[in-house]
Amino acid sequence: MARVIFDGVGKKYAGGGANAVTDLNMEIADREFLVLVGPSGCGKSTAMRMVAGLEEITEGRIIIGDRVVNDLPPKDRDVAMVFQSYALYPHMSVRDNLAYPLKLRKVPKAEREQRVNEAARVLDITQFLDRKPKALSGGQRQRVALGRAIVRNADVFLMDEPLSNLDAKLRVQTRAELIKLHERVQTTIIYVTHDQVEAMTMGDRIAVMSLGVLQQLATPQELYDNPTNKFVAGFIGSPSMNFLDVQLQGSEGRLYAVTPGFKMRVPDTKGRALQPYIGQSVTLGVRPEHLVERSRLGGDAPPDATIPVTVDIVETLGNEIFVYLTSPGTVLTSRMAPDIQLTSGQQIEVAAEPERLHFFDPKTELKVA
Ligand SMILES: Nc1ncnc2c1ncn2[C@@H]1O[C@H](COP(=O)(O)OP(=O)(O)OP(=O)(O)O)[C@@H](O)[C@H]1O
Ligand SMILES: [Mg+2]
Repeated sequence: MARVIFDGVGKKYAGGGANAVTDLNMEIADREFLVLVGPSGCGKSTAMRMVAGLEEITEGRIIIGDRVVNDLPPKDRDVAMVFQSYALYPHMSVRDNLAYPLKLRKVPKAEREQRVNEAARVLDITQFLDRKPKALSGGQRQRVALGRAIVRNADVFLMDEPLSNLDAKLRVQTRAELIKLHERVQTTIIYVTHDQVEAMTMGDRIAVMSLGVLQQLATPQELYDNPTNKFVAGFIGSPSMNFLDVQLQGSEGRLYAVTPGFKMRVPDTKGRALQPYIGQSVTLGVRPEHLVERSRLGGDAPPDATIPVTVDIVETLGNEIFVYLTSPGTVLTSRMAPDIQLTSGQQIEVAAEPERLHFFDPKTELKVA
């Protein structure tokens, strides 16, 4: 059991251009399931490989438990890593594949057997122990790969996109199994993915990275409700948050967000933080699921707090519909309940609850209100 601390960690590859990871600070609690998420190339694997000892740390310190591990060789770090491309030995049975890491560490035979049986039980692969990997499905092989990490009783599990080779259905299933597994084995897990749905469903907390820099570290709900900047706001949620450039105008003590197509009153609760932006443009963000037809808003939306739009395309998904809406200079996506009848060309008004509107500084992209 161990916490993992990144203390000002930076990584610059020899010959590489920009830093792969810059000034990374985060503390992962003992037994926490932390998900590292971000687009391709943002530094997720690099951060992970530094914990494992597979990459040198250019700057800062990594602490596992109470030990600074910067100069500790991988074998002394007590971390187990599962990669996307799990390599099982094809000529060995599942049992021998599982036992192999223990054999390398000279664990006595009786203990080896006991640990292999225990891991097989936890992963529900006991019935496959005498098969060769080629006689297993992809999902079963993936579980064997996880088993090789589990038998080690490591303090920290590092998983780098371990589900990406599986088909959609198996991914969802294995995802659920991993969550259960974490409850049972009670180790610290750092899990890398570029899939925000995977991140949201699995993580106790999520670290969102972009271009080597940690953007936000928070619980899934916090990330969704209160993204710290436009990058996080756009990365979490599907379909993505709508972003609109609006001019902020003040008149008679009220604030309005103005575009060529509409003039929408800004909720009073946002007014204070937006004062410095009066007369300037800001980025307004609203998630598709929060943009509803006016009459469906709980309570009464003030008439000047709505956006008049034209229905462009309606996509029916059965349990919900995606509606593409236009207003001069703006295209908006809305995600609505399937019982609403809308046709292309129809004029409607949409609105969002005040706390569902996000305002970002157009230059720094930080959320201001
Ligand atoms: N061995 C290396 N030498 C030089 N540059 C590297 C090396 N490995 C990675 N990089 C660079 O470091 C940056 C971060 O790479 P990293 O593999 O950590 O990204 P990632 O977030 O894991 O991406 P992906 O989702 O595609 O796996 C990238 O710009 C990459 O090109
Ligand atoms: Mg990677």
